[in-house]
Amino acid sequence: MPVDQQSFRRAMAQFASGVTVVTTVDGAQPFGVTASSFSSLSLDPPLVLVCLARRLHSHKVIERSGAFAINILSAHQAEWGMRFAGMLPDVVDRFAGIETHVAVTGSPLLPDVLCWLDCRVWKVYDGGDHSIFVGEVLAVDTSSADTPLLYHNRLWRRSEALAVPTLPPRAKIIEVGPCTGLQPEAQLIPTATKVALIDALAAAGVTRIQVCSFVSPRRVPQMADAEEVCSRIKPQPGVVYSGLALNMRGLERAHAAGLGQVDLSLSASESHSRISAGCAVDEALAGMAAMVERARACGMAVRAGIQCAFGCAYEGEVDAHRVVGLARRILAMGVDELALADTTGTANPQQVRRMVQELLPLARATPLALCLHDTHGMGLANLLAALKSGVYRFETAFGGLGGCPSTPGASGTIATEDSVHMLHEMGVPTGIDIARVAECSQRVEQILGRQLPGKLWRLQAAREKR
Ligand SMILES: Cc1cc2nc3c(=O)[nH]c(=O)nc-3n(C[C@H](O)[C@H](O)[C@H](O)COP(=O)(O)O)c2cc1C
Repeated sequence: MPVDQQSFRRAMAQFASGVTVVTTVDGAQPFGVTASSFSSLSLDPPLVLVCLARRLHSHKVIERSGAFAINILSAHQAEWGMRFAGMLPDVVDRFAGIETHVAVTGSPLLPDVLCWLDCRVWKVYDGGDHSIFVGEVLAVDTSSADTPLLYHNRLWRRSEALAVPTLPPRAKIIEVGPCTGLQPEAQLIPTATKVALIDALAAAGVTRIQVCSFVSPRRVPQMADAEEVCSRIKPQPGVVYSGLALNMRGLERAHAAGLGQVDLSLSASESHSRISAGCAVDEALAGMAAMVERARACGMAVRAGIQCAFGCAYEGEVDAHRVVGLARRILAMGVDELALADTTGTANPQQVRRMVQELLPLARATPLALCLHDTHGMGLANLLAALKSGVYRFETAFGGLGGCPSTPGASGTIATEDSVHMLHEMGVPTGIDIARVAECSQRVEQILGRQLPGKLWRLQAAREKR
């Protein structure tokens, strides 16, 4: 079977530094040994190498059988890494309880590994107490999406050194002020003002704007004019206008209103889900899957959000594994963007970094966006942590508008102006004119008659007065 070059290239590019289990077979007897990173020698023909100690029994078997398979372990398979390294003295049969299947060469393949490569020995080089086996790759599989298991300095973990030390060349700001920002405000903002704000934000260089929410006007009176807002904004080329929909009815309304993108959302917290959406998380997931399918059929792009991704006002901590599991299921639906919200504003930069490092390899080509709240003053620090870990899309609200109706005391989303200012100061362009966004904040502050949490527009105004 010819090896698909794309798969081989992907395997090499992503997992070459992971821990592997090299397996082989002697008659019917399987053997396996943990080995560190292996390297690719060429793409055509596809060749890889492993370096094994001469004293190992597996070494002798591979020499005899002329075949081996490389199983690249995921972060959750550390136990196998130890087991096949002979580090678990109680384990007699290393393959016990593992449902292997058999490669073309007869070598056993471990299930759910990040990737496996089935190889025939092509050449053996003498490396003293080790031999370097060059294997011709006969088959490869990379279907399991996960983070690789790394081993460094006797620690089984994903390397802390994975953080990208440089900043991305550009960041994308998604303005959610007109929707999630205004939604909690009891004072109704006139439709004409909302439309003027949205047009002004587009003129300021914002290329993604969440303009309204298609919820029941009884539940959220502020969004009763959703359709009218959509019909009155002056669409600008290059700007994507989206609407929030929490159920199929909302999605149909967003489609009928002519929006090209719908923003879906569910909560990672069971209590928050029941209180804010009136259903269990599993039900919300099933609803989201149906909505993604419908949106696709309507030709709409889909952003799927996970609320309470870092904590919950009712439950406190939210298990990161749970969030990763949800993200995995949402990504499998084929959404265009995954957005994680720190609804309670309790995330800290280290938590954000860990979550992002876990999710980015899963998301692969699907962009990851973060919606960060400033409840505990950590919003911009969290933005920086995410940015340095490879996220470059952020949902922000002009003036720092927003909050969470079901999370008492939660302050707004980090302010667009403050975020853009920090990004620009660090040399990361956004294409946004801070002064023009600040004018929007000033306008809303005057209407609401109270000070918004964002800092930048006030500094801007003070500078202009001088
Ligand atoms: C992370 C890790 C990577 C390893 N890499 C290699 C390797 O590349 N080559 C090697 O010969 N042994 C390597 N070892 C050591 C072998 O796994 C270990 O000596 C062997 O499993 C002992 O098994 P045995 O009982 O079959 O002799 C590694 C061990 C660990 C924990």
